[in-house]
Amino acid sequence: MTNTATIHGVPLAYTDTGRGTPVVLLHGFPLDRTMWDAQVEALHSRFRLIVPDQRGFGESKAPPGAVSMDRFADDTAALLDHLQVRKAVVVGLSMGGYVAFAFARRHAARARGYAFCDTKAAADAPEARASRADMAERAAAQGMAPIAHGMIPRLLAPSTLSSRPEQVDRLRRIILRAPVEGVRGALQGMADRPDSTPTLHTLGVPALFLVGAHDALSPPEEAGGMCARTPNGRLVVIPDAGHMAPMENPEAVNAALSAFFDGLKA
Ligand code: MLT
Repeated sequence: MTNTATIHGVPLAYTDTGRGTPVVLLHGFPLDRTMWDAQVEALHSRFRLIVPDQRGFGESKAPPGAVSMDRFADDTAALLDHLQVRKAVVVGLSMGGYVAFAFARRHAARARGYAFCDTKAAADAPEARASRADMAERAAAQGMAPIAHGMIPRLLAPSTLSSRPEQVDRLRRIILRAPVEGVRGALQGMADRPDSTPTLHTLGVPALFLVGAHDALSPPEEAGGMCARTPNGRLVVIPDAGHMAPMENPEAVNAALSAFFDGLKA
């Protein structure tokens, strides 16, 4: 069931299912909470899964303008307040990982652990910032169809693209329904985000780095480099998956996440 809470003046949609250690799942760009459906289905019998549409995405509203990673992180902390959850495991994919880094800087006492999925710590290089500005203009002028067309081949592993048409379609549908205003706000926020590399060695709780073996956007070497800088880090490479590992190989991702969550209880 979808719930709505007014967080910092904005109606945020989220689901809250299951019992056990609270876990918040933060989606990537330009997606929504449904990218985590396979994790919710498999893990809710053992963990409490809190899954928001971050502001401007899915069914959540956002005022126009840039949305910083700090703003998304503060929304996450305020949603936990609303649910009277003091501490949660924070799981973020790609942009969700950028938000998890901001959460670590601003709300460290609220985290029991982090799972950084298919993400990177480095800030954008100038070319990446320029291509985000282009994408924002294209989305404003032409909607999400060209964005989906350009992004999907980079988001999925070659094997997913060639032999899992249902996953390709599902991802396309999610991207096509992303609200253009939310997309533009997040693009500006991602372009402006700081380098999170210095945050890695400050993480005071265990961190899982999970990455699709064929992730072309934030490859396994990147995840390995982040893990090496993290005091209590663990790296898991997910076979048969690209940047969207939780959708492409949910069984392997669910096994890695549940083993990590179980380890935090001990
Ligand atoms: C994502 O999956 O969230 C995006 O690839 C992040 C980005 O554009 O940097």
